[in-house]
Amino acid sequence: MERRDGTPLQPGTGPNLQLDDEKGLTRRQFLTYVLGGTGAFMGTVVAAPLVVMAFDPIHRSGGEAYYKTKWKPSDFNEQLPTHVTFTQHIDDAWNSKDVPNDVYVIKYQGKLMIMSHVCTHLGCHVDGSIKNNQSVAPQWGDGKYWFRCPCHGSMYDIYGVPSPNSPAPRPLDLYKYRVGTNGYIEVGPSFQRSKEAWDVNPNPSV
Ligand code: FES
Repeated sequence: MERRDGTPLQPGTGPNLQLDDEKGLTRRQFLTYVLGGTGAFMGTVVAAPLVVMAFDPIHRSGGEAYYKTKWKPSDFNEQLPTHVTFTQHIDDAWNSKDVPNDVYVIKYQGKLMIMSHVCTHLGCHVDGSIKNNQSVAPQWGDGKYWFRCPCHGSMYDIYGVPSPNSPAPRPLDLYKYRVGTNGYIEVGPSFQRSKEAWDVNPNPSV
């Protein structure tokens, strides 16, 4: 190659397309590494809690542990749910601590229904019809519904069955229970009620 005036072009003094191309490739590689690294980091940030949830027993459903309470079956009635709290103890590689949980308990045909406080729509804590720490008559939906979810307005009757136009897809979950030899209730794992069951009978244990 030579200049316009005819003098030869010295190596390294003119446009070097190959070098520019190499620089461009390097830039692309740099951007690829940066973007790839950022994506991997963001993926880790997002995935880490899910991994913890998958293995952490606080968030994991299932398990057959039963927890002692200070309630007896005679503490509850067939008219209105009663709001009570019990303590679950978590003790494993991740946690060793007491975790409070609150539930609503009513009797149906002599058997207890221990209802979860978790709305079955998106998981908010439902409110019961309670005034001054006492259960009162259902106060929502013209007096038909005892629970109401503050998030999107799902309403549930005294047995935790949702109103037809609630976004909640199913009744409040129930907890298994047993009565210990000392007469106190022990609360086990929670479970979902099937549609077939709640249309006929809100309490599958009856
Ligand atoms: S979370 Fe309860 S209605 Fe949406």
